[in-house]
Amino acid sequence: MDDGWIKVGNLADVEEDDTHSVEIDGKRVCIYNLGGEVFATDGTCTHGDADLSLGMVVDSCLIECPLHEGTFDIRSGRAVGAPCTEALRCHPVKVEQGFIFLRPVS
Ligand code: FES
Repeated sequence: MDDGWIKVGNLADVEEDDTHSVEIDGKRVCIYNLGGEVFATDGTCTHGDADLSLGMVVDSCLIECPLHEGTFDIRSGRAVGAPCTEALRCHPVKVEQGFIFLRPVS
C-alpha cells in the first residue's frame, strides 16, 4: 500500500547541523539533521533561485540562503531574516531503522 512516504536516504548521510539535497518529482528538497532530529523543507529559496543545501545552518535551527543570506526557521519554514518574507514549505519526515522517509507536501 502506498502511504505516501518516500525513502530519501540514510540518516548517516546527513551530518548534524548540515544539509542534504534530494530531488523528488523534479523538485529540490533539503533535509536537515538538527541534533539528531530530522527536518525537511523545499530546497529552493522563496526569494530567488538559490539552492538552500549550499547554505549554512546557523544557531542550530536556521538555514541561511547562500545567495542573499536571508534566513528561515528550519522547523517551521518561517522566513525570519531579510530579504526573505515568504515561508518555505516543510515536509513531514520520519526515521526508521536508520533510513529517512519523507512525505512530500504539494
Ligand atoms: Fe535566497 Fe535571495 S535568493 S535570500
